[in-house]
Amino acid sequence: MLPGKIEEAFNEQINAETYSAYLYWSMSAALEAMPLPGFARWMRAQAQEEMTHAEKFFHYVIERGGRVKMKAIDGPPIEWAHVQAMFEDVLKHEQYVTGLIHKLVELAAKEKDYAASIFLQWFVSEQVEEEAGVDAILGKLKLAGESKGGLYLLDKEMGQRVFTAPTQGDTE
Ligand code: FEO
Repeated sequence: MLPGKIEEAFNEQINAETYSAYLYWSMSAALEAMPLPGFARWMRAQAQEEMTHAEKFFHYVIERGGRVKMKAIDGPPIEWAHVQAMFEDVLKHEQYVTGLIHKLVELAAKEKDYAASIFLQWFVSEQVEEEAGVDAILGKLKLAGESKGGLYLLDKEMGQRVFTAPTQGDTE
């Protein structure tokens, strides 16, 4: 049985991961308007990935005999001055999510919920990857700077990303 505090905190995390997807959908829409269709496609794949994170928590709460309770999702921003400012926000957001995951790790240790601790390890590593990935994109954006040609090429590169749904074993 899932301890009550963990159930509550994991429900909050379902909300936070779903908000991340919602935020990235909003960014994708703004990128389409810039227009940077490659970046927009990358961001939609990112949103899909966030939904798989929410699903991992969803299935885990149920598997442990807990109850999933959906909460309202906040409205994300809808406008960004330029793509670099947007990716700076992505990095800040991912750092915030990393902080949330670390708090969950601390809570699982405090509650002596060893199973939840193991479950959370995947997210600890995932956040390292997410932050590094966004940081690398920011580096390329800084290199491209004001160059329209550089941004055009980068947009083509970003558009190559294809979302691959995790296998059953990865989401449950
Ligand atoms: Fe689900 Fe990007 O953290």
